[in-house]
Amino acid sequence: MAEIENRIKRLKEEKDVLILAHYYVDEEVQKIADCVGDSYYLSEKAVGAKEKVILFCGVSFMGESAKILNPDKLVLMPDMEADCPMAHMGAVERIEKAKAEYEDLAVVCYINSTAELKRHCDVCVTSSNAMKIVNALPNKNILFVPDENLGRYIASKLPDKNFIFNDGYCYVHKEITKQDVLAAKDKWPQAEVLAHPECTMAVLEEADYIGSTSGIIARAGESSAQEFIICTETGVFYELRKNNPHKIFHPAKEQQVCEGMKKVTLEKVLKVLENMDQTIEMKEDIRKEAQRPLSRMLELAK
Ligand code: 13P
Ligand code: SF4
Repeated sequence: MAEIENRIKRLKEEKDVLILAHYYVDEEVQKIADCVGDSYYLSEKAVGAKEKVILFCGVSFMGESAKILNPDKLVLMPDMEADCPMAHMGAVERIEKAKAEYEDLAVVCYINSTAELKRHCDVCVTSSNAMKIVNALPNKNILFVPDENLGRYIASKLPDKNFIFNDGYCYVHKEITKQDVLAAKDKWPQAEVLAHPECTMAVLEEADYIGSTSGIIARAGESSAQEFIICTETGVFYELRKNNPHKIFHPAKEQQVCEGMKKVTLEKVLKVLENMDQTIEMKEDIRKEAQRPLSRMLELAK
């Protein structure tokens, strides 16, 4: 083990820290984490944490969600600037307008959102539980914020509900085009296409499997296919290749990189463990209101 990894391990134990990492952060950061997973798995892990401190190797809405669910714990971020642009793509005015327009409305908020947006919503979802949760809601009308693509995908599977969409998107997934996928299929015709539901419907129509990052990883392991075209952020390649050393994985296009996630480095993990200074802070009234939809998600996803 390199010196930096040893120092991280020592400090982590000394200061009673649980390190959580999303599959999109760099491989070297995934290697030192206690738990690596998708957004839902990590929020569950944050709730069950026995440690006094959570260090979240991911983007700000992830650290914020961990703090919302664990007000008594210190939640640290290796880089306070690591952010998800989509988290800011929902407006409270949009929610208020829909509430005035539709009587039987549920406001469903993708976890990739700010605490400020969450507090105006009825329930949160992640890409791995959105279908189950929206289906379980008694409401006919669903305002889905902030991601339009995930909303449209869920809507396509639940025709009895009336969806109202917001125009937010993830640039990493939106920039994967149908043409990219068709060109990749031409190049590797025997490969299975695995896509994240943040991709556009045009891309999802070309996919053999659609699921969250954990879903994609599970499918690659279970499938009899030997070759795959992956339509999501390239951080997942570490887990895919580790679990399936004899299978071949291709990105659908050259650049499938989330800049926010890549801001998290081993050096920054070490520094924040030394200084314990980059903490998530939130006003208690905002935290309490944002906790309601997150806790409802954890309850309905069981
Ligand atoms: P999941 O972790 O639910 O797969 O979502 C991917 C993502 O974009 C996280 O930012
Ligand atoms: Fe946000 Fe997309 Fe990055 Fe996920 S991959 S954190 S949705 S920008």
